[in-house]
Amino acid sequence: MSNIQDKVVIITGASSGIGEATAKELASKGAKLVLAARREARLQKLQEAIQNNGGQAVYKVTDVSSHEQMEELADYALKEFGKIDVMVNNAGVMPLSPVHEKKIKEWDLMVDVNIKGVLYGIAAVLPTMRERREGHIINVSSIAGHLVFPASSVYSGTKFAVRAITEGLRREECINNIRTTIVSPGSIDTELTAAISNSELKTAINEVMKIAIEPSNIARAIAFAIEQPADVAINEMIIRPTIQEL
Ligand SMILES: NC(=O)c1ccc[n+]([C@@H]2O[C@H](COP(=O)([O-])OP(=O)(O)OC[C@H]3O[C@@H](n4cnc5c(N)ncnc54)[C@H](OP(=O)(O)O)[C@@H]3O)[C@@H](O)[C@H]2O)c1
Repeated sequence: MSNIQDKVVIITGASSGIGEATAKELASKGAKLVLAARREARLQKLQEAIQNNGGQAVYKVTDVSSHEQMEELADYALKEFGKIDVMVNNAGVMPLSPVHEKKIKEWDLMVDVNIKGVLYGIAAVLPTMRERREGHIINVSSIAGHLVFPASSVYSGTKFAVRAITEGLRREECINNIRTTIVSPGSIDTELTAAISNSELKTAINEVMKIAIEPSNIARAIAFAIEQPADVAINEMIIRPTIQEL
């Protein structure tokens, strides 16, 4: 039996890309999934696909930038399945732009979703994990959380923050038997670049992204971290396309 069987896993940003692929991978290994994102039709379709393959999944429409909605998401998982074993804080946005363009609303959005969304996700599940002295929090950062390039200043800032928060959490909570994992993907073929509002930049980034690999590769890495024995923590992973230099 896999060490993922019957684990209750919340995944934010489950409506597309890495989150959707992770849901499918974990469902195939017997996890009980709680799918979260804002696009209900996508969540419903994914839930049906998982159930048609014999898996277990429920969903809740959730905006990760709302602390209240994240608390409600955790409550829903507890009501449906009685426990929370793993929280995958995956939802993220990447409207890249150079700082001089002053796209303040896009900066606010990245801070709200990429940083606050992760913090609210941690806050929502930590009490029950501390009480049970068991749990695993997986936060999706990025290769842009390890290095900065022109137009990534704010996005990288949010992804560096995810790594800092996760490492701090590890040092605080390892004593309580709570595992943390930072996942830093390179170029992955998803909808992420759609939010780039500068069309020249979007074209340039999409050109760079031609080397992108499938999100299922990140899903397998996340499954690997979850399926380790309880006394083993995979604390950090970078997964790139082999030919990606950046
Ligand atoms: N693709 C890459 O190359 C790459 C590289 C490094 C890191 N990442 C990271 O991987 C994560 C997943 O992104 P992806 O590549 O899979 O892109 P994606 O296909 O665009 O998925 C992003 C997900 O985040 C959700 N989301 C966005 N804002 C949200 C909000 N306010 N509340 C709840 N959910 C929200 C979206 O769902 P709704 O719109 O339905 O809410 C969607 O499911 C992100 O954190 C991203 O930064 C991606």
